[in-house]
Amino acid sequence: MTADDYRPGLEGVVAGETAISTIAGGLQYRGYSIDVLADQASFEETAYLVLFGELPTAEELNAFRNRLARSSSVPAEVLRFLRSVPNAAPLMDVLRTATSMLAHWDPDAADNSHEANVRKTERLIAQIPVIVAARYRISQDKEPVGPDSRCSFAENVLRMLLRQSPDQRAVRAMDVSLILYMEHEFNASTFSARVVCSTLSDLHSSITAAIGALKGPLHGGANERVLRVLEEIGSAERAESWVREAFEKKVRIMGFGHRVYKQGDPRATYLKQRCAELAEQAGKQEMEIMAETIERIVREEKGLPPNLDWPSARLYHYLGLPVELYTPLFVVSRVVGWCAHVIEQLDNNRLIRPRSRYTGPSNRPWQAIADR
Ligand code: CMC
Repeated sequence: MTADDYRPGLEGVVAGETAISTIAGGLQYRGYSIDVLADQASFEETAYLVLFGELPTAEELNAFRNRLARSSSVPAEVLRFLRSVPNAAPLMDVLRTATSMLAHWDPDAADNSHEANVRKTERLIAQIPVIVAARYRISQDKEPVGPDSRCSFAENVLRMLLRQSPDQRAVRAMDVSLILYMEHEFNASTFSARVVCSTLSDLHSSITAAIGALKGPLHGGANERVLRVLEEIGSAERAESWVREAFEKKVRIMGFGHRVYKQGDPRATYLKQRCAELAEQAGKQEMEIMAETIERIVREEKGLPPNLDWPSARLYHYLGLPVELYTPLFVVSRVVGWCAHVIEQLDNNRLIRPRSRYTGPSNRPWQAIADR
């Protein structure tokens, strides 16, 4: 290994092994294509698959759902913290701190065994949407609403945020978006989680770090920026001039480009169809026309296809969700992938500690402080 092996941003570097997902031949979770999962599975079935490696039987799925339902309570101290933060604090920042706090009340906090990490994972999957919804409602001066154990995970997410019974098309759209956001091999946030636990640190520390990594606009933070851009442009007529101006100013168009998908993100292709259906239902076809225009120009001029954040931002908008929830919703789902990777890393751990290429000066003579 020499300094010539340096790849900026670790592009193309294979930094470890995983049996959880692959992007080779289209994205697959544990060997199942995301198209099949998004067509057929629920969030809970997919989460079970990602965590345990196999699709659940009806009995296993029922038991998993019951365990999630029993794990959703959030300590009163964490809820008090959610009430104590200024309303303007970004939800991702509050979620990062609250997730870290959860460790202090988790009975398995100090246990890093496989079994304890599975238990902690199930608690985090159940607690994180409750925290996101509670914090959102508190910031709107509304009372939090808890989950209903008779409802599916996706339905509960919508009910806790909007406090109304969503229709089945909305529930399915949420289910599909969460399935597509769930897992994506060694992306930046997942890799952060693996780096943290590779020091034999704990699950909550790993997930807290992952949330910090996801928040950035080059990663999960892009979905919020996408909607802000669409709102700023405002109409299909303005789309073309806005994009050309952005190119001139060398501004990155959020929701386009991807480190590992140069020909197109299969998740974006899948979700686009759902977007069109929901836009029609919500009477927002104008936004779809605007998005289509932008997509065409960015592809023609830069050869960049859209990534998952491009349709998912619109999908959440059509579901009536406010923009500050979009990246936290990514966490609600990706926590499954992060935890699966932490468990996999710890099952066969080797400290992740790469090298750097040094670019600073060498062998400098010491100067006494009076001579500097
Ligand atoms: N808009 C305009 N130009 C772009 C964009 C974009 N969205 N993405 C890449 N480029 C250009 C970039 O300027 C560069 O051009 P040049 O070679 O002339 O300097 C070239 O394409 C290569 O870009 P890069 O940054 O070296 O490529 P990368 O593999 O490091 O970047 C990326 C991947 C996702 C950071 C980048 O495409 C980007 O910034 N996209 C916008 C942010 C975004 O949508 N992020 C979500 C990623 S996918 C889902 C998720 O993780 O949340």
